[in-house]
Amino acid sequence: MKLILLGAPGSGKGTQATKICEKYNLPHISTGDIFREIIKSGSELGNKIKAIIDAGNLCPDELTMQIVKDRLSKADCANGYVLDGFPRTIVQAKALQEISAPDIVLNLDVDLEKIERRITGRRSCTKCAKSFHIDFIGNVMTCPVCGGELTVRADDNPTSVKERLNVYKNQTEPLINYYGEMGSLVTVDGDKDIDKVFSNIVEILK
Ligand code: AP5
Repeated sequence: MKLILLGAPGSGKGTQATKICEKYNLPHISTGDIFREIIKSGSELGNKIKAIIDAGNLCPDELTMQIVKDRLSKADCANGYVLDGFPRTIVQAKALQEISAPDIVLNLDVDLEKIERRITGRRSCTKCAKSFHIDFIGNVMTCPVCGGELTVRADDNPTSVKERLNVYKNQTEPLINYYGEMGSLVTVDGDKDIDKVFSNIVEILK
């Protein structure tokens, strides 16, 4: 199964991708996570990417497409994948059609008014990369799954979130029509609680 999770920042793509990959034994490919790994290396490229991400903008299409192309060529993607955060532009979507066309695109539909609260309350684990929300785990700084250190992402501040939502509306939202016209789009109500969203996804994938 080749699956794309589409949705605004904070719509729950990462949360649902983790659950889908565990259940269906698929590789979870998050371009955001890949970029954050490159940033950790401290390279010149990493520093450039950090400036772009912290400002809430998108990384260049060329670079992003090359990263995804390389990742999809790995053996673990032979039976499919879950793409989380890619594609984000029409140019990226068209490139993906050439590399490995998706079977299904799930659009996580959320009320954009709730996004800022979701994102600014997020805590991300530096060890296992899972995300949590302070509403569920409280204001702790230790990962409830692996015990790693929880941090607040540098782009999870109100200024970056505002820009990320602008970028989403201008560059990523048009993908809803793009995949809708192709007949591969299914919209999921992302405003339900995490387990309910997941059980709806499992029903769709049956
Ligand atoms: P990326 O890491 O992909 O960030 P994003 O798209 O902004 O999405 P988020 O990770 O913020 O949210 P999510 O939808 O995964 O939600 P989550 O499950 O964590 O990208 C970061 C940056 O990298 C981009 O801004 C860009 O610069 C660059 N980049 C990445 N891909 C790119 C590309 N293709 N092209 C160019 N640049 C690219 O949930 C959020 C919070 O809500 C969590 O706290 C979670 O616990 C909580 N939550 C989840 N679901 C629910 C629910 N149902 N109810 C209540 N709370 C929930």
